[in-house]
This record gives sequence, structure tokens and C-alpha cells, in this order.
Amino acid sequence: MTELTTESAPKKRILSMYQCTGVFTLGNFLGAIRNHVGFQDEYECIYALADLHAITVRQDPKKFRKYILESYAYLLAMGIDLEKTILFIQSQVPEHAQLSWILNCYTQFGELSRMTQFKDKSQKHADNVNAGLFTYPCLMAADILLYQADFVPVGADQKQHVELARNVAERFNGLYSPTFPVPQPLIPKHGARVMSLQDPSKKMSKSDENLNGTITMADDPDTILRKFKRAVTDSESQVRYAPGKDGVNNLMEIYASLTGKTMEEIEREFEGKGYGDFKPAVAQVVIDALVPIQKRFKELMEDPEYLEKCYTENAQKAHYLAQKTLSKVMKKIGYLPAKLH
Ligand code: TRP
Repeated sequence: MTELTTESAPKKRILSMYQCTGVFTLGNFLGAIRNHVGFQDEYECIYALADLHAITVRQDPKKFRKYILESYAYLLAMGIDLEKTILFIQSQVPEHAQLSWILNCYTQFGELSRMTQFKDKSQKHADNVNAGLFTYPCLMAADILLYQADFVPVGADQKQHVELARNVAERFNGLYSPTFPVPQPLIPKHGARVMSLQDPSKKMSKSDENLNGTITMADDPDTILRKFKRAVTDSESQVRYAPGKDGVNNLMEIYASLTGKTMEEIEREFEGKGYGDFKPAVAQVVIDALVPIQKRFKELMEDPEYLEKCYTENAQKAHYLAQKTLSKVMKKIGYLPAKLH
């Protein structure tokens, strides 16, 4: 393992974090995580579970703890390689909360009020519009800026938050002296956008009430086949990528992203065949991708000591990098340092 230092990084650094309030979905895997696995040779990657962000919505303690550990294991099973990459749990690295407070004081009320995710979420959870929901983007800015990240791979829904992190970084650099590299959002070239199998106008989501719309990483082969067989298509019965055929387009996207085939190749492969042939074929490539991940996940979950060793060591590595940035920031502001150990 090469030591990651902020001064002499030869590769550009990528940072991304994942929600850990449920089982990852096929959409998370194909749309994001698989790309992040692919970044590990070209970039220095730092990934984490955003479990501090998670409590902006009430979590059941038992389930929450279970999801955090399982999400960690799933990321390893999906190919995050600890020989190359740091994968840690946000709440285990205290600097996130610390820098987040500081950045709160360099972010305007008006800026946070304009965040579309805040507006959406405060409508959805009208009974719990807590201050954390409002300052969520400052915590996310802290996540990014603590590690001097160059790139932040995010979906369109998070672009505004990365934009805010850029503004805060520039503001701090301008008030004091260059402290944070200004991070850039990285919109992946071939990130599949996987839609619900039941309502292809909506993104596939783990919080969907209609369980048939979402394939989770934990679904067994029978369940996967059943969900694909029930997937919403159209009355045409032709495997064709075209406007207005959202259901079929979505199945084709999934198939293309797992086989590497183009849409034309898929159309040719299923020429003269109907959805009755196509749907099980899509299910099969998904099953083939998920079965080995599930097997590895199970092995990891049967070895809790190994998992504990992994997340502890990785929290230590993250803490080492984060504490360097935080002490620079605090010194610039004028705080008096104390040696506690
Ligand atoms: N807010 C992101 C999401 O909802 C998760 C996240 C938290 C994140 N901190 C981050 C993503 C830092 C990228 C970088 O998906």
C-alpha cells in the first residue's frame, strides 16, 4: 500500500460517499459504484459511507447499524480494493463534524435556502425539517475539502452540492490563503441511469414503495427473474430503442451496461423475438453479475473481525489525512492548538 499524502500525490484524487440507509440497488451498482471501482487504478480514490448525513432522516438504531456494516461489506464485494483505495465510515472520523461546523460559518443562509434538495426534502419530511437537513451541504463540503479532492463523481442531483463546496472553498481560500483545491464534479461517461421496472419515468430507488420496481443487490435469482418478467414495457413487443418506449429502453440500458453491447447489437440479437425472450435474458445477465457479489458479501459477513479490521484501519488512514487539513484550517482562522496526546 503506497502512503497517500496530500503533498506528493502523483495521481488526481477522487472522493465519493454513499448513502447507507438500506441495501444497495442495481441502480447504485450500475449507475455509480461500478464506475467508482473502475477509477481505482487511474486515480487515488477515497470512498466512504455517509452515515452522518443519514440522520437528517430518523433511523431505527438496530437497522441503521446493520445497514452500515452491510453497506461496507457490499462495497468490498462489488470490487472496492483496499490495497488501492481508502474506504471508511464517516462517523468514525471526527474531522467531518468539526470542519462541517467551521464551514457552516462560511456559508450563507441564502445559499443553503436555494438548494433544491433541501426544498424537496423539507416538503417530503415536513414533520422533521431539522437544522441538519438545512446544513447538509456544509457537511458534504467538509467531506470533499478535508481530503483535498480534485474530482467528485456525482449524479445530477448532487451537482448543486458540489457547486456549493466549490464556492465555499474559493471563499475560504480568498479570505486566508490557498487552503483547498477547488473540486470538480465528475459526471461519468458511461454511467447507466437505471429506472424503476414498474415506473420507468422514475429512478430506481431503495425507498420505492413498489418493491417490484427495484432490484436490490440482495435479491436472489428467482426474485430477479420474477421482477424482470413483471417489468412494465409496451404493447409493441419489439426490442427497439426508441422514444416513448421507456420501459424497454430501460431494460436495454441494463442489458447493454452488463454485456457491453450497443443498442443496435441488442436489437439484432432479439430481432423477431418478443419481450418473452428478452426479459429473461436481461434477468440472466443481472443474475450472473450479482451472484458472485452476493457470494463474496456472505463470506465477508461471516468474518466480522476482518470487517472490523478493515474499517478501523481505513478510518485511521482517513483520519490522518483529514486531521492535516483541519489543523491547517484552524491555524489560519486563528485557533490556539493544544496537544492532547
Ligand atoms: N449527498 C450524497 C448523496 O446523497 C452523498 C454524499 C455525502 C457525498 N458526502 C459526499 C457524495 C461527498 C460525494 C461527495 O448521494
